[in-house]
Amino acid sequence: MRKKNYLKILMLAGPLSVILLLLPGFVLRMKAPEENLKSRYSYRDFESAKKCGSCHQGIYEQWSQALMSQAYTHHWDEIEYFDLAVKHSEADPALKEVVDGCNGCHTPVAFMGAREFPPPRPSANSMANESVSCEACHLVQSAQTDPPFNFSYLIRPGMTKFAVREPAVESPAHKIVTNDFYKTTEFCGNCHNEKSPFDVWVKTTQIEWKEGPYAREGVHCQDCHMPRGGPFLNALMTKPYNDARIHLFHGGHDPGKVRGTIELRINPDIREAEPGETVVFTVVLFNQKTGHKFPTGSVEDRIAWLQVEATDAKGKVYHLDVDKKGFEGEEYTISGDYLAYQDMGVPLGIPDFRGVQRDGIPAGNRIFRMPFFDPEGRMTIMQWNTASLGVDYRIGPRETKVETFTFRLPYETASGEMKVRAALNYQLLVKPVADLLKVPDDESEIKLVNEHFTTINVLP
Ligand code: HEC
Ligand code: HEC
Ligand code: HEC
Ligand code: HEC
Ligand code: HEC
Repeated sequence: MRKKNYLKILMLAGPLSVILLLLPGFVLRMKAPEENLKSRYSYRDFESAKKCGSCHQGIYEQWSQALMSQAYTHHWDEIEYFDLAVKHSEADPALKEVVDGCNGCHTPVAFMGAREFPPPRPSANSMANESVSCEACHLVQSAQTDPPFNFSYLIRPGMTKFAVREPAVESPAHKIVTNDFYKTTEFCGNCHNEKSPFDVWVKTTQIEWKEGPYAREGVHCQDCHMPRGGPFLNALMTKPYNDARIHLFHGGHDPGKVRGTIELRINPDIREAEPGETVVFTVVLFNQKTGHKFPTGSVEDRIAWLQVEATDAKGKVYHLDVDKKGFEGEEYTISGDYLAYQDMGVPLGIPDFRGVQRDGIPAGNRIFRMPFFDPEGRMTIMQWNTASLGVDYRIGPRETKVETFTFRLPYETASGEMKVRAALNYQLLVKPVADLLKVPDDESEIKLVNEHFTTINVLP
C-alpha cells in the first residue's frame, strides 16, 4: 500500500519528484495522514460476519467461538462499558470522547458507522454486536501511527478485502488485494496498545512483544494466535490449504492456552528438619509460552499469584508467606488486607465509596501484576482513569523469576513426610470487583496455570 501512495505522490510531483527523492530522509518523514474514522461511514457500508461466513464457514465458526466476536456483547465488556465507562462520562462530560473510543477497538463497525454513542445495548441486536468482525480486520490498510495504538487503523469500506496469500487468490464475492501489513504485529497493535487520556500506556501487548525475544526471532502474534495448519478449507469453493491461517484468537479466556504458560518448580534447601527448624523453599517460574508479558492486555483487571502450602503427615495444612525482596512498590505484589478501586464510586453513584478488597485471595501470596493508579493515587481497574502506573512485576517472555519462602516448622508439625505444593493461579478479573459489579463467575474463576510438588521429612 505504502508503495502505491508513494508512486502516486511521485506522479503528481512530476519533475519535482527527482528533487524530492534527492532530499535525504524524505521517504522516512512521509507519513499517512491521520484520519479520525468516528462516524465517518454508515452501517450500510459494512457487511456482516455472517455473510462472510456463508462461504468462509470454518473461519467463521472459529471466530464466533473467540472473544473477538464478543468484544461488544460479552458480559464483562457490557458491564464495564455501560455501567462504569458510560456512567463515568455522564458524570464527567470531558470523558465522552474517550468513552466513545472504547468502540474503536471493541466494535469498529459501530465506531465508524454509528451516529450516536453509546450504541444500543447488546440485547437490541444491532450491528454493534458485530464486535471485531471480519470487516473490522480485512478492510484495514495500514496503521496511522508508529507505534500503533488506540484504533489507529486506516479503513476504507468496499469490495476489496486484504490478505497476504501469494499469488493472490480469486473470489466470486469480492476483490482481493495482497497487503504485507497483515503479516505484521502492528496490525494487531492498532487495538492491542492503548493510551489513557493521561497519556499513560494502559495496554502494551505489541510493545512488550517488540521489546522481547520473539520480535528478534520473527515470531509474530499470528504465529501463536492464528497458527498455520491444514488441510483446512478457507472457503467453500476452493481446495484445502496445508498452511491456512486458523482464526483461533485464543487467549486468556481459553484455559488450555493459559495452562502451562509458566513452568514452575519448587525445591527445599534441606530435606530433613525438626519442628522449630527453618526450611527455605525456592520456587522458579519460567515463562516459556507467551510472546509478551504475563499477564498482558487488560492488566488492570488481571492477577496471577503464587500460592505455596505445606501438608504434614496428619493432613494439617500450613500456608507459607513469600519472602519480601525489598523493591519499591512491592506491597502491591503481595496479597493482603487492603481496600482499593474507590474511583468506581463516581460512575456507580456511591458518594464516599470505601472501595472493595484489592486482591480477594489469601494473604502473603506473591502476585504478578502491574498496578494502575487513578489521579488520586489509588488503585483502579478503570484504565481510562489511569494517571500513573506502579511497579511492573509481571513475567516477561522467556523471563525467569525466583521466589523464596522461609518456613519455620511449627512445633505441632506431625513427624513424617510433609508435602509442599506450589501453584500459580490466574484470574481475569479480581474477585471483589467481579462480585461488586455482578460479573458472572466465569470471569473471576481461578485458572490453574501450573503446579509442582516437593517433600521434606519432618523428624520426630
Ligand atoms: C460467495 C462466497 C464468498 C463470500 C460471501 C465471501 N468470500 Fe472471501 N473468498 C471467497 C473465496 C472463494 C476466496 C478464495 C479462497 C482461496 O482460494 O483461498 C475468498 C478469499 C478471501 C480472502 C483472501 C484469502 C487469501 O487466501 O488470501 C479474504 C481475506 C476474504 N475472502 C475475506 C472475506 C470477507 C471479509 C468476507 C465478508 C465481507 C468474504 N470474504 C465473503 C468467497 C467468499
Ligand atoms: C483480528 C483480525 C481478524 C479477524 C477478526 C478476521 N481475520 Fe481473517 N485474517 C487476519 C489476518 C491477520 C490474516 C492473515 C494472516 C497471515 O497469513 O499472515 C487473515 C487471513 C484470512 C484469510 C486467508 C487465510 C489463508 O490461510 O490464506 C481468510 C480467508 C480470512 N482471513 C477470512 C476471514 C473471515 C471470513 C473472518 C470473519 C469470520 C475473518 N477473517 C476475521 C485477521 C483477521
Ligand atoms: C479492531 C481491533 C482489534 C484488532 C485489529 C485485533 N484485536 Fe485482538 N482483541 C480486540 C478486543 C477488543 C479484544 C477483547 C475481547 C474481549 O475480551 O472483549 C481482543 C482480544 C484478543 C485476544 C484475547 C482472547 C481471549 O481469549 O481472551 C487475543 C489472543 C487477540 N485479541 C489476538 C489478536 C491478534 C493476534 C491480532 C492480530 C492478528 C488481533 N488480536 C487484532 C481487538 C482487536
Ligand atoms: C510465542 C507465542 C505468542 C506470541 C508471539 C504472542 N502471544 Fe499472545 N499469548 C500467548 C499465550 C501462551 C497466551 C496465554 C497466556 C496469557 O493469557 O497471557 C497469550 C495471551 C494473549 C492475550 C490474552 C491475555 C490475557 O490473559 O488477557 C492477548 C490479548 C494476546 N496474547 C495478544 C497477543 C498479541 C497482540 C501478540 C503480538 C503482539 C501476541 N499475543 C503474541 C502466546 C503468544
Ligand atoms: C486500543 C483499543 C482499546 C480501547 C480503546 C479499549 N479497549 Fe477494551 N480491550 C482491548 C483489548 C485488545 C482487550 C483484550 C485484552 C486482553 O485480552 O487482555 C480489551 C479488554 C477489555 C475488557 C476485558 C474483557 C474480558 O473479558 O476480560 C473490558 C471489560 C474492556 N476492554 C472494556 C473497555 C472499555 C470500557 C473501554 C473504554 C473506556 C475500552 N475497553 C477501550 C482494546 C481496547
